[in-house]
Amino acid sequence: MPMMASQMERSAGNYSAGPSRLPDRVRSLVAEDVLELDGSGIGCLEHSHRGKAFDRVIAQTETLARSVLNVPSDYSVLFLQGGATQQFGLIPMNFSGQTPSAQTNTGVWTTKAIRVAEQFGPINIVFDGSQSQFRTLPKPKDLQIPANASFLHTCANNTVMGTQWKELPRAPEGVPHICDMSSEIGSRVLDWDTLDMVYAGCQKNLGVAGTVLAIIKDDLLSQSNGPSPFNYQEHASAGSRLNTPPTFGIVVLRRMLEWIQEQGGVQSMARRAQQRAELLYKAIESTKGYWQAHASTECRSHMNITWHGPSPEAELEFLDRADQLGFSGLKGHRSVGGLRASVYNAADDEACTKLAELIQSSPLDSK
Ligand SMILES: Cc1ncc(COP(=O)(O)O)c(C=O)c1O
Repeated sequence: MPMMASQMERSAGNYSAGPSRLPDRVRSLVAEDVLELDGSGIGCLEHSHRGKAFDRVIAQTETLARSVLNVPSDYSVLFLQGGATQQFGLIPMNFSGQTPSAQTNTGVWTTKAIRVAEQFGPINIVFDGSQSQFRTLPKPKDLQIPANASFLHTCANNTVMGTQWKELPRAPEGVPHICDMSSEIGSRVLDWDTLDMVYAGCQKNLGVAGTVLAIIKDDLLSQSNGPSPFNYQEHASAGSRLNTPPTFGIVVLRRMLEWIQEQGGVQSMARRAQQRAELLYKAIESTKGYWQAHASTECRSHMNITWHGPSPEAELEFLDRADQLGFSGLKGHRSVGGLRASVYNAADDEACTKLAELIQSSPLDSK
């Protein structure tokens, strides 16, 4: 069907920051899961979250998450709902103490997280990038994180600004480090020695919006102080089924983790992300200042490539041309404007090459 062919092209050229593109293989398997889950005769949307079929899904998803993300045995894996934003509340609700939490303000999402954290306890902003439009990140060794902080909060990859900590900060001994990995999970090899909790909304690299993967060191988990049903320990003790979990999101997460494993794992995802990002940054730079990357060179994200043009009209013209070629999702976030290509795990390499060509060609054609 010709209609189908153009839909496939548009999917390949989908650069949305999230929800975002899924691999073709995952889309087909999920379509089958919707009709019938694992030969059970019942579709995944219709299964009880406490039945045997879903028991298997949740067990397999946890095993896959542990293996793909190399999760140590003294960490618990939780499947939650409410998106990453809900975690902005749950984290301080559970882990704020008498002493301030150490907060790094590196973009739109950390700004929101800080606003929520303030409602639950004292905070100490140990880095504030707002003065430099969040274009840069500090060197981890330059951060002054108090040894008595209740926890350190960071965001590994700043989706809106297109910056990424190449090396994540280290919290002082005894201070839990909690990291928002929403736009990087599954595309970066994690050093668990420096991380006590990682959480991510799944709609970028791992599937469906509303679903959260949270991985928490048991030492920290046991200090959960939040009221039910916002207490992490209670969710862990109930095997992520304190209430009805986001079953569809977990089914898709299982397929995404399987796919990442088949593709060679997180290392291979990280390598490919690096290649795609280099291609796009190189294209931007080849225009000799017509297009300009938003982020400083040393902290440019390999997931979200952000750039500006010489004028809003030039950017609109670019978006028009991109649209005609079947690309979508390239408009920058409303808070920074400009353009953004989000190239998560399922990004299509061929479409990235075509996008790089479009970026390179634009200033020449507009003369
Ligand atoms: C880094 C980061 N954190 C948090 C969020 C918020 O996620 P959600 O919309 O799932 O609440 C986003 C969403 O794009 C994000 O990119």
